[in-house]
Amino acid sequence: MVTPDLDLDYRPKLGARQDFGIGIVGAGAIVNAAHLPAYRKAGFKIAGIMDVNTEIARQTATKFEISTVYPDLTAMLDDPHVDIIDIAVPPWHQRKLVEEITASGKDVLCQKPLSNDFGEAVGIVDSAERANITLAVNQQMRWDQAIRASRTLIERGWIGEPVAATIDISILTDWSAWPWLLEVEGLDLMYHSIHYFDSLRSLFGEPCSVSSSGFRYPEQAPRGETRTVTVCDFSDTFGAVVSVNHNNWTEDRHATLRIDGTEGYISGTFGLLYNYPYGRPDTLEFHSTTNMSHLSFKHRFEEMWAPDSFIGPMGELMKAIEEERPPETHGRDNLKTLQLVHAGYRSMAEGRSVKPAEITD
Ligand SMILES: NC(=O)c1ccc[n+]([C@@H]2O[C@H](COP(=O)([O-])OP(=O)(O)OC[C@H]3O[C@@H](n4cnc5c(N)ncnc54)[C@H](O)[C@@H]3O)[C@@H](O)[C@H]2O)c1
Repeated sequence: MVTPDLDLDYRPKLGARQDFGIGIVGAGAIVNAAHLPAYRKAGFKIAGIMDVNTEIARQTATKFEISTVYPDLTAMLDDPHVDIIDIAVPPWHQRKLVEEITASGKDVLCQKPLSNDFGEAVGIVDSAERANITLAVNQQMRWDQAIRASRTLIERGWIGEPVAATIDISILTDWSAWPWLLEVEGLDLMYHSIHYFDSLRSLFGEPCSVSSSGFRYPEQAPRGETRTVTVCDFSDTFGAVVSVNHNNWTEDRHATLRIDGTEGYISGTFGLLYNYPYGRPDTLEFHSTTNMSHLSFKHRFEEMWAPDSFIGPMGELMKAIEEERPPETHGRDNLKTLQLVHAGYRSMAEGRSVKPAEITD
């Protein structure tokens, strides 16, 4: 048995130029907990911030030493020091903001979900393409340490051909941290499992069909589903299961990843979910029978899913602008992730498996 010191090559790849001025729209929970701590760590330049609630924008600016608080989006777009707009507001506000941004010609990192309405998401992508601006979506879990390292191992062929993948999450989610989520009709797939769907796409490509079931907990506060099981069929030799339970009130919780291949397996944990928002680093274990010898590896990362993976989408957007190419999570790519989410909801409603291509605007 060999236990090598492997380069898992999981960290975001940054471009030569990182001095783009970032203008942040929305100064809420995720900006304070993840965007700004990640950007500070990466050394990204924050030109300024705005929020419809100017007092919250001021408090965030003080906390992160941001010199400019704009009264509105127009003032931010008029500032020549702002190159990239970073949106972090509830999705139903996003289209109007993107319309104003496209008119200004600045590039934009939108939040996930791009929209909870598929037709509206297509409209957002179309308008960015017409305006010839670069639009990326903040599907940061692709840069989660366990996901990115798994991608490296799969690409190197160290588990052979993937045959099964399971993401199994059983946690207790305190929805009171996101009051606006209590009212949404579609909850887990649209706002949480969307991360797993996008991560699976980054690892394995496009599923050909999706089957989902959704459940509520007795007398739960949120309107939408808080327990889901989704099966993604990729081919007749590879399928993935995403199982999420937000109602595990016991101490026995888990958030795990398992990928089986013809010549090895990967087994990991998403540490952040064990004690959100504090959490712990991801772990990753893998065993391979390739290269004539048995190879085993156990790793506990230094970084955390949040905030560290938030360096990924912004860093990649900057690199893509510099290299004049679409970023990895560009808008049109993200429509495929949203198709999986909507295919899941249609599957729940109609009790059948749904092809992503059935979801159109
Ligand atoms: N990428 C991720 O992993 C991730 C994680 C968590 C949340 N999110 C997304 O981020 C978004 C924000 O989530 P949150 O938890 O920070 O919400 P939040 O309610 O804590 O913050 C949202 C902020 O946006 C402001 N706002 C609303 N409309 C605005 C507008 N038109 N212009 C400017 N500011 C406006 C609000 O005043 C509020 O301060 C949501 O879309 C959510 O789905 C993404």
